[in-house]
Amino acid sequence: MAEDASLTRRGFLALGAGLAVAAGCRGGGGGATAAAALPLQPGPMTLDLAGSEVATWGYGTVPGPEIRLRAGDVLRVRLDNGLPEGTTVHWHGLAPPNAMDGVPRVTQVPVEPGGTFLYEFRTPVAGSFMYHAHVGVQLDRGLYGPLVVEPRDEPLSYDREYVLMLDDWADGVEETGPHTDHGGVPAESAVDPGPATVSFGGRTYPLVLVNGHPPDDPPVLEGRPGDRLRLRVMNVAADTGFRFAVAGHPLTVTHTDGMPVEPVTVDVLRLGMGERYDVLVELGRRDGAWQIGVAPEGRRGWGRAVLRYTGSPASSAPPVTAWPAELDGRPAEHADLLAVEPLALPPGRPDRVFDLTLDGTEIGGQSYPDADPLTVAEGEWVRLVLRNTGAKWHPMHLHGHHFQVLTPSGRGPVKDTVAVPARGGVVTFDFLATNPGKWLFHCHNHHHMEDGMVRLVRYGSA
Ligand code: C2O
Ligand code: CU
Repeated sequence: MAEDASLTRRGFLALGAGLAVAAGCRGGGGGATAAAALPLQPGPMTLDLAGSEVATWGYGTVPGPEIRLRAGDVLRVRLDNGLPEGTTVHWHGLAPPNAMDGVPRVTQVPVEPGGTFLYEFRTPVAGSFMYHAHVGVQLDRGLYGPLVVEPRDEPLSYDREYVLMLDDWADGVEETGPHTDHGGVPAESAVDPGPATVSFGGRTYPLVLVNGHPPDDPPVLEGRPGDRLRLRVMNVAADTGFRFAVAGHPLTVTHTDGMPVEPVTVDVLRLGMGERYDVLVELGRRDGAWQIGVAPEGRRGWGRAVLRYTGSPASSAPPVTAWPAELDGRPAEHADLLAVEPLALPPGRPDRVFDLTLDGTEIGGQSYPDADPLTVAEGEWVRLVLRNTGAKWHPMHLHGHHFQVLTPSGRGPVKDTVAVPARGGVVTFDFLATNPGKWLFHCHNHHHMEDGMVRLVRYGSA
């Protein structure tokens, strides 16, 4: 089993404070000298997958180093490109000034090999975010990491916290990779996906990694009986939606895409690529080790972590492919989720509505870069209606804004990535055009994005 970082809440706060200093958040301003930036160094590296080394690209580790700030801090990261090609970093879910958004040829020139770039902006909004490369399908390798912005005053109380990044993985394991010869589950694991009613992609990914670990070497989350854990679950996969559940432990959803919702208790999460959920898990008066199951939607494969009650013997580990019954239970639907801080929409109707059909990898009948920008005006209330006529689900992500999903409650969740169901699924969301620039709106299936499933939202002087 993997040694996993197990930090108490106190430890995390200390780490946050340390990073805030490292990132130069000294407040006050007026000084001409910028404090040291946090270095982020993408480059070729090897990753140990349950004893077999594979070659990949990453930010030193997979996932990359956790970036943790407090609301109102300045993120200051220096990208030093050790890759053999250009790269950028995108701060998924944050709403930085447009020039800091890390989109090649839209907001910046890619940073050349050996080149450097300083990302620097204030992060006023707390939440669970991610950073990742945004050139081609670089994200499909190990070029991603967690980015957590803590509130100044944490309203939730919990004992420990874990970040779990879920990824589909192919580097180094395509045909005769480590999965076939290290005695563990085969890459196309024996776990049966059930009827393929939901599918987010079509490529082959032999492995599912949780925090860079395959099922044979799962991350271990420790907790004492009676503890309350906070999990920040993030889907950073290129081509795979996941279901996520903890055997014997319901999940109380507190945030979607980092934004708070009224707590609702469910059995299972469904996460499209780019989506994040924060959940609380109550540890009972019991012991043992419990499977945390990560099931790809509509395809074979299997990922997992283990929840271990402190002091339980190692022999209590669940079998690699043990399937938590909760995976087949009740998921959190958009309609179940009520925003704690809804967008401040004015009375009346939206100023502008775009009604867009998602068909194959076209958005509104167009394929980027041969696509018109969605031009809005600063200050407008903008509505997007997305109608998916295709056979795949599409997790649609808007850069630079938080949007509110329209649900019958009128208080739908505030998100930045929303999965639009296949075969007639319709999702409507609203946002306020208060962050001028050229912003990508795209499917977070990276192959769909590469195939042109992108539009720009443009306003201001951009
Ligand atoms: Cu994670 Cu353009 O996105
Ligand atoms: Cu898609």
